[in-house]
Amino acid sequence: MKLRGLFASRSPMKLIIGATLLYFAAIPAAGLALASDSDQITNIFRTNSTPANSISNYSLLVLAICAAIFVTVATLLIYVIIRFRRRSTDDDREPPQIYGSSQIELAWTVLPVLIVLVLAMVTARTIADIQNAKAPPAAVHATIVGHQWWWEIRYPDLGVVTANELHVPVSDGAERRPTFLTLESADVAHSFWVPQLAGKTDVIPNRENKMWIEPFKPGIYPGNCAEYCGTQHAHMLIRVVAETPDDFQKWVAAQQKPSTADAQVKAGHDLFFANSCVSCHTIRGTEAAGKFGPDLTHLMSRQTLGSGVAPNTPEQLRAWVRNPQELKVGCFMPNMQLGDQEVDRLVAYLQTLK
Ligand code: CUA
Repeated sequence: MKLRGLFASRSPMKLIIGATLLYFAAIPAAGLALASDSDQITNIFRTNSTPANSISNYSLLVLAICAAIFVTVATLLIYVIIRFRRRSTDDDREPPQIYGSSQIELAWTVLPVLIVLVLAMVTARTIADIQNAKAPPAAVHATIVGHQWWWEIRYPDLGVVTANELHVPVSDGAERRPTFLTLESADVAHSFWVPQLAGKTDVIPNRENKMWIEPFKPGIYPGNCAEYCGTQHAHMLIRVVAETPDDFQKWVAAQQKPSTADAQVKAGHDLFFANSCVSCHTIRGTEAAGKFGPDLTHLMSRQTLGSGVAPNTPEQLRAWVRNPQELKVGCFMPNMQLGDQEVDRLVAYLQTLK
């Protein structure tokens, strides 16, 4: 029987067989396509951190059990459809009917109950392992505040405040260094999701949600807001920068320093304070203590602008300062209507915030 014949056929039996074959072929094809993505793309199949690994192992187990059930049922179904199809030699009598067989009824009750029991126990164990995890002494603690449309990141124990790029140490053989996160929202509901590191956790106003991540390999793990939160929900990206403990320590030391005044960019500095920039942004080491927008003390240490909307290059920074509404329509930073020279001066000042 040719494959084309299966789909061109009007016979319901052939159509069912054709559809089943297609279904079987689609599963490995989709799996391969998803597993071969590059490192820079968020990918639930390439986990690299404790909670994500256990969730991934758990879902593969569930998938395997369900696949085994599917294969068994589909095979039996196809066998029955072919073996007991209508034949020209059939008479019109009804085949023998079976009622009240305790053996069959026990089989189709006990077996599913056992399967559901196994699934329920594995689920409960995975959830408990993740939720009851205790922070080891060397754990890092960070508070993430979701804003429309960016992430505020605070390390209360370290005195560091930044935005959109969460730096964490990796756990190596020598010491466990997980990062425990407290999630808060400044406005509406968001959801914090870095697929390679952990499951989603909602970020809810007037509530503190907890989660933790523990990457093992240094690298950049992209993630995003996973709860629709308004116009720029799609541009609310987060990057987790996992570093060796030494690199993380260096980053913390650099972030703890206040900004240093540079006489060469005084014109830009004065513009920042003469305009409403100062009422929304904090620059430690100056009087700027605004809380509405991201902390700019070490703006130039970040890789992106506008929560991942553009790379942090001089050209993009200039475009952002000139009119943020062009790069990120609807964001809460207004077009300040600055002239070319003013933009140049302001950008020159911002570029000293290393
Ligand atoms: Cu924040 Cu969607």
